[in-house]
Amino acid sequence: MTEVPHRAGWRARLPGVVRARPRTWIAVVASLVVLVPLAWMWQSSLLPDSYDMAEMGYPDWGGGPVDEHHGMHHGTPVKDLVADTDRPADFTETLTVRRDGGDYTVNGTSPGPTIDVTVGQLVEIHLVNDNVPDGITLHWHGVDVPNAEDGVAGVTQDAVDEGEEFVYRFVPDQAGTYWYHSHQVSHEQVRRGLLGALVVHPDTEVAGVHEELAVLHRYGGTPTINGEEGTSEVDARPGDQVRLRVINTDNGLAPLWVTGAPYQVVAVDGRDVNEPDPIEDEKYPVPAGGRVDLGFVVPPDGVRVDFGAGNTMVFGGDPTDGDEPRAPEDFVDLLGYGQPADLGFDPADADRRFDYRIGRRPGFLDGRPGLWWTVNGHLYPDVPMYMVSEGDVVVFTIDNGSGDNHPMHLHGHHAVVLSRNGEPATGSPWWIDSLEVKDGETFEIAFVADNPGIWMDHCHNLPHAQQGLVAHLMYTGVDSSFRVGGKPGNQPE
Ligand code: C2O
Ligand code: CU
Repeated sequence: MTEVPHRAGWRARLPGVVRARPRTWIAVVASLVVLVPLAWMWQSSLLPDSYDMAEMGYPDWGGGPVDEHHGMHHGTPVKDLVADTDRPADFTETLTVRRDGGDYTVNGTSPGPTIDVTVGQLVEIHLVNDNVPDGITLHWHGVDVPNAEDGVAGVTQDAVDEGEEFVYRFVPDQAGTYWYHSHQVSHEQVRRGLLGALVVHPDTEVAGVHEELAVLHRYGGTPTINGEEGTSEVDARPGDQVRLRVINTDNGLAPLWVTGAPYQVVAVDGRDVNEPDPIEDEKYPVPAGGRVDLGFVVPPDGVRVDFGAGNTMVFGGDPTDGDEPRAPEDFVDLLGYGQPADLGFDPADADRRFDYRIGRRPGFLDGRPGLWWTVNGHLYPDVPMYMVSEGDVVVFTIDNGSGDNHPMHLHGHHAVVLSRNGEPATGSPWWIDSLEVKDGETFEIAFVADNPGIWMDHCHNLPHAQQGLVAHLMYTGVDSSFRVGGKPGNQPE
């Protein structure tokens, strides 16, 4: 027996690759060098069927004390962070959501009914899911409710299934303009109408002020005001004082402008502006999710407010006689608007400082290849969990180098703007819950961590949130009660 036939047989059975020449070998190795890490990146981006939001990503302690017990489940569960359970409701309403051909209504309309309450009331809302197979929730955008009432599927509750009911109870402690919307499959449910206005009135209304509401929403791409296209005529007489509450429920910035009288920005995101200056010939940009209250006095010829695309509101007559007025070129800048006032805390004395750096890069999100948003260089869900303790003074630096604009929304808190691109704020405290951060901009904002829970901090261009522009603020001593995914199909974005 000789070696030769054996060797020949062995070679003959080898696949072509092994018999290949060195050049081919190099190509094979080179492809593996690319493919293996790609496969690994793909595989590691896959989200489990259900997961605890608090265990995703990595804790960022912002330079403050690290809690050794974090993640050990010794704290207060989210589901226990509720309003006083012994207190009876002062205001009760049932909101029933229906889905018809992919569009949503609340009590038969979209926008749904406006919830008008008074500051300090215990508000109780019964949410009923008539026939939405994906499930629904309600988030009280801009109201700093207890965490378990925040309406985020998979983080603060399970999505409310078809035929089921969920009760929200909270006490709004700041008068102002807010709204409600679904936070289950929100990029679709909100666009398709699952929303409405929430107005928290002060204890004593200022006599003689004419209140109006403008809920901006695009239905099937068509912009509307309170669900209507074109001109809405509002009865008003010369000398009337108007407070117009504007809510931008869309995904993009909504500019508006006023013709016929000077106007004031009397409130932003549910917080009054201190000593607002009169404005003339400047547009006001309402960020996605944001609200603005405008104040003006109606002159004999009336006032016209333009929202673009031919949508207007006219108070006591159209001062332009129907000609579309030229839109001003300049925008109101809140950085130096109004007069300074006490913040109630000292941002210079921050306990924690965080970066929220928004970028964009190619990668995999739940196995899907694409160009995704990043937070501090990380792709969702490997993003920072911003850790705070109750009572902390917190400063965030939001830096946008992503090539697009982002209306950033923090749940459960109002933050004050300290600076933009290094330029300090000099006007009235500029309190926000929804802040437009344009590409290339850097904002410093500050707040007091006074509302324990797990809170979303995301882009309110809701498709961006679905593309991974989501992080959370989490308190030490709080534990998750819910999971994203799983049987309830929780899908907050
Ligand atoms: Cu109005 Cu997390 O949203
Ligand atoms: Cu965005």
